[in-house]
Amino acid sequence: MPAKIVSLINMKGGVGKTTLAVGLAWELAKKHRVLLVDIDPQFNATQWVVNADTYLTWLKTKHTVLNVFQPQALNQAGGGTTPPIKPTEKTAIIPVKHNGKTLHVLPSALDLMKLDAAPRGTENRLRVFLDGVKSNFDFILIDCPPTASLFSYSAFLASDAYLVPVKPDPLSVLGLPLLEKAMLDYEERSGQELLRLGLVFTQVRQTPAMEATMREVRLQYAGEVFKDTIHQTTGVAEAVEENKPLQYFDRQGKFPEVKAALTGICAEFERRVREKL
Ligand SMILES: Nc1ncnc2c1ncn2[C@@H]1O[C@H](COP(=O)(O)OP(=O)(O)OP(=O)(O)O)[C@@H](O)[C@H]1O
Ligand SMILES: [Mg+2]
Repeated sequence: MPAKIVSLINMKGGVGKTTLAVGLAWELAKKHRVLLVDIDPQFNATQWVVNADTYLTWLKTKHTVLNVFQPQALNQAGGGTTPPIKPTEKTAIIPVKHNGKTLHVLPSALDLMKLDAAPRGTENRLRVFLDGVKSNFDFILIDCPPTASLFSYSAFLASDAYLVPVKPDPLSVLGLPLLEKAMLDYEERSGQELLRLGLVFTQVRQTPAMEATMREVRLQYAGEVFKDTIHQTTGVAEAVEENKPLQYFDRQGKFPEVKAALTGICAEFERRVREKL
């Protein structure tokens, strides 16, 4: 069966999309063939999973998601001289190993920023590329930027469903109606609907304000919010710096709750995909 493709999307920035995308991707990779697609020009997911030396070497001769959108483009920020050929699984997907598990990454690049004035039809190129590789994977996760942009729209067109990471503070949840409106716009533009797989609370702290917000969101999106939540924790920056998945970055047993949460979120994700897709 070809991969199920799920975008992680929220128009509010800094809510934990990338942290959830990377954590969930590594968790799924324990049992499945997983591709993580980074379509954010800030390439935070790429930076987390792929170490700097590997990435810089890759940029010199291989492709990034920029070439998926624009095959002839150069990754100039990395001094690249990428051949102007169509990107393939071999030239555009980096296999990364950790603890004996492999996660595949379609990396992003800063140069993606230049794509703003792309020709019509560019929004379909990610879907076409993923159509070509999806028989080799079980799950494809797309980490989106916090903008209603060409990138988010191309992720919409390429996906079977989307997942919404939500930081449950009163101001961040103001982004939810905005996201719903953006998704409606996409549905109108494309003539197709996209299933919302659910909402996941991220960067949770046990404060009265956050608990009240979580109660409200659980009421408003009844049955849609995942049971497990990702708590605010220390060490995320260090895990990123060391290119380690959060669930393996368990220095002195400091993050058992994040590890357990990711296991729970992953199981619920698999169940929802099985039942709904
Ligand atoms: N559970 C957490 N505990 C502590 N820090 C976190 C947690 N989740 C995310 N962060 C930190 O918060 C910041 C934003 O997280 P992240 O990059 O995952 O959000 P994002 O929604 O992908 O942001 P953007 O909109 O810029 O893409 C990062 O500095 C990250 O290290
Ligand atoms: Mg991000």
